[in-house]
Amino acid sequence: MFRPLLTVEEGPGPLAGRIGQGLALEIRRGRLRPGERLPGSRRLAESLGVHRNTVLAALRGLEAEGWLRTEPGRGTFVVDDLPDVAPAPFAPPGAAVVPGYALPPALPDLAWSSTGPTLLPLLGGLPDVSAAPADALVRAWRRALRRGPGVLGYGDPRGVRALREELAAMLRALRGLPIDADHVLVTRGAQLGLYLAARALLRPGDVVGVEALGYRPAWAALAATGARLVPLPVDADGLVVDALPAGLRAIYLTPHHQYPTTVTLPAARRLALLQHATAHGVALIEDDYDHEFHYEGRPVLPLASADAGGVVLHCGTLSKVFAPGLRLGYVVAPPPVIEAMARWRTVIDRQGDALGETAIAELLGDGELPRHIRRMRRIYQERRGILVEAVRRALPFADFTVPAGGMALWCRLPPEVDADAWAARALARGVAVQAGSRFLFSGEPCPALRLGFAALPGPKLEEAVARLAACAPPLG
Ligand SMILES: Cc1ncc(COP(=O)(O)O)c(C=O)c1O
Repeated sequence: MFRPLLTVEEGPGPLAGRIGQGLALEIRRGRLRPGERLPGSRRLAESLGVHRNTVLAALRGLEAEGWLRTEPGRGTFVVDDLPDVAPAPFAPPGAAVVPGYALPPALPDLAWSSTGPTLLPLLGGLPDVSAAPADALVRAWRRALRRGPGVLGYGDPRGVRALREELAAMLRALRGLPIDADHVLVTRGAQLGLYLAARALLRPGDVVGVEALGYRPAWAALAATGARLVPLPVDADGLVVDALPAGLRAIYLTPHHQYPTTVTLPAARRLALLQHATAHGVALIEDDYDHEFHYEGRPVLPLASADAGGVVLHCGTLSKVFAPGLRLGYVVAPPPVIEAMARWRTVIDRQGDALGETAIAELLGDGELPRHIRRMRRIYQERRGILVEAVRRALPFADFTVPAGGMALWCRLPPEVDADAWAARALARGVAVQAGSRFLFSGEPCPALRLGFAALPGPKLEEAVARLAACAPPLG
């Protein structure tokens, strides 16, 4: 319980009466709410610097006027029914934020989805957080706290050294990146990494190429620097690289599992892109958000693993392998770029969550994270099969390629289908899906659905597809 900010007005009249008026004013303003318990009379007296009997007299007066009620042994409460009290809202709707000031109209327009308990999420980027190893997390946090006060103080804006070392070792082993801790910045999720990469690289007016079918939150982070985004074509193999426009400062892309289509950029395109970027001084912002979930053949190494020219910024995240709520991502880049991003970070975030970073370093160090990834990969591969079968059965007109990796099916639909309307009907039936327009740079209607298979166990996936089929558009 916090002490109310009580003051006693100077003025005529007995002190108890003025204290009572002060309390009544707090109730009328809504700072003391109906049903709220007041601090004890001794504490009130102390904070006001008056005798306790004076406070007791004030409380008795307010009780007599019907503002307060006393429950023996429990305390004094604001009464529950105060019909004539309309607390002034903190910021009434429609009011200027600060008098004379209006928020600029061009705010980033990113809807954040939330999944209610009854909603079945067929959403592409959602992992199954119910499978996160809660006991191991608790143990790791406890061990991290015991490491001493260092984890609770101000620290390195690049992240806790132990985690940067563990991540560097993981990325050397799994993604072939020839790096050490000095190439790593730990961020709160990939989103902050993308934002900081944009801040470090871009100036207002710079031109940045993005996949015409792609990830809107990254575009918003890039555009926040004042850069101009131009859409680059994407085909069945991912980003088309043989007709890149001149004058690009950077390209943002998802080569491993193209977002949202999940295709892997072929080796020839990767080489051509790296050559182009090195020759023309174009930075490549590689978003490798779900690298670990590849089910077929050998894992393909990221662009950054073959980057001889120092042009790639490689962004990753533990959101998909562990849980988005942990907010743990990273950027791999040449040390001067890491340094620049760290400086920008100090402006908006100072540093990351040193305790959480230390705990995750423990999990990486003792092999828990790789074990969890192997387990989830098996589970997601099985769910991919279940969703594929369910969609084939219930939505035979949906055209898709079974993805070699990722967490979603990209379903192309007949051109006459209004995918947005279908997604809205599905939502009314308790199923969340994303329609193609959400991923198109132009925002135009796009007859496609992205169906995620990671978040739900088999029977729920089947139920979600059945509900989707029950509100499918009439075809043929
Ligand atoms: C393509 C892509 N990049 C980045 C992210 C960001 O992940 P986070 O900020 O949770 O680490 C996501 C999450 O959905 C994603 O789909």
